[in-house]
Amino acid sequence: MNGIDPQSVLNKLLAFPRCVLKSEPTSIDFLSNLSRQHDRVKLYVKRDDCNDLGFGGNKVRQLEFYFGEAIEKKANTVLITGAVQSNFVRLTAAYAARLGMQCHIQLESRVSNPSETYKTSGNVLLNRLFGANLHYFSEGENEIEADSRLRILAGKLEAEGRAPYVIPLAPGHRPLGALGYVLAAYEIDQQIREKKLSINVIFVGSGSGSTHAGLLWGLRALGSKIKVIGVCVRRRKEMQSPRIRNRCREISTLLGVPIEIPDDDIILTDESFAPGYGVASSRVWKSIVVFAQQEALVLDPTYTGKTAAAFLNYLERAAPDDNVMFIHTGGTPGIFAYQSELENALEEQALDNWPDTALSSPAHDLAVAKKYSNIQQLHHYQDRTYADGGVCNIECGIVPIPKVYVNKVDYMTMNHPVGNVSQRPANNQPNCCHRLTALASKKPNTYGKQQYNDNIGDQEYRVGVEPWLRKQAESNALIED
Ligand SMILES: Cc1ncc(COP(=O)(O)O)c(C=O)c1O
Repeated sequence: MNGIDPQSVLNKLLAFPRCVLKSEPTSIDFLSNLSRQHDRVKLYVKRDDCNDLGFGGNKVRQLEFYFGEAIEKKANTVLITGAVQSNFVRLTAAYAARLGMQCHIQLESRVSNPSETYKTSGNVLLNRLFGANLHYFSEGENEIEADSRLRILAGKLEAEGRAPYVIPLAPGHRPLGALGYVLAAYEIDQQIREKKLSINVIFVGSGSGSTHAGLLWGLRALGSKIKVIGVCVRRRKEMQSPRIRNRCREISTLLGVPIEIPDDDIILTDESFAPGYGVASSRVWKSIVVFAQQEALVLDPTYTGKTAAAFLNYLERAAPDDNVMFIHTGGTPGIFAYQSELENALEEQALDNWPDTALSSPAHDLAVAKKYSNIQQLHHYQDRTYADGGVCNIECGIVPIPKVYVNKVDYMTMNHPVGNVSQRPANNQPNCCHRLTALASKKPNTYGKQQYNDNIGDQEYRVGVEPWLRKQAESNALIED
């Protein structure tokens, strides 16, 4: 026992202002088809994607506390910043619509070279549908600046007579959102006891860290020993781990309950994170297809798909009596923003071309790179793995890697086993990335010596593909452009 009285923690939580729009606890369902395939373990899903508002998701629980405070402060306008396909932003717009508040959202460019669909469909379309005012911020990795621009906007709105409330992004603010998942831990604990389940491992996406930290902290407040595995969706685990530690400490401070979460209790995996935020590897797409076709669950490539990939990977090494729960944190509208990637994934599935290796470390990346190409050295830059030598550059997380030769380009990234290639110019401006079309969509007889002339950045590319890939392409009547 940790000497904490769970009831007194609950009383403190419930003393915070809260605006509750959902009615019931979300269900915990047995994943019968997936469990059958992994006969050593029992698998469950917590359906937080069914939180009843604007397509649901984990952020509903977090927003209960933010909107509670906003209402208490008599705000009539709410502001939030996030990625273009942010679910937090979409749900804030939905919440504001329900409460008759004005909503201003700032969309940050976090994903290089986004498609038109990414920029306009999925959550973006829903933001507009919920009547939010859209603003744009061209940077995607500057949380402090994103927040400060939001505050400037809030100042302007205030000068116009509105009463604004800002939901902050950067670390260091009071972890109100995380309280939603401290409460969720209580809900889960009660459901587990009522249903007499033996869940001993939980998988959850770890982005801002509010969900992961709140859940972990809440379970420990209850004296539960369930292992919580956070799956990195926003940054590598070396950077995410201190974030979770700080979030847990901030929760202790906010609630005035001194629970120290030991470092070895903060479990993170970034095995499915690569190539980076908002871009999914083949393995992640495969996991999305598996969940859809086995359990009729819809996942997204940015959050839940990555969590699912790590979850499925874990099952290969699970202990016989493991009972593992996947928290479905929602994000479902995001799938529509990635229509062509999903179509590619389904095509690949038809080709039975799934890579079966999950990348986990630079050493592993290098081993894979060596296996599939002539690359001998890899280095890391801004969370990504690149091949050295100026010949070719491979994004980790995607295997097998066909050999790609590129002329006159210092940095190249490759996003797809059949050859989506993007260029990162020597000055490393992330926004200058340019994607070449998939080699798979070229006529088979153009493989091998395809010459791409492209006027973006005045670069010329010469791309060659290994014979095994060409053979596969030829035998499968790929779409021509
Ligand atoms: C669908 C989904 N899952 C998981 C996460 C990660 O949650 P958190 O930011 O609380 O770590 C997010 C964050 O936006 C999300 O939208």
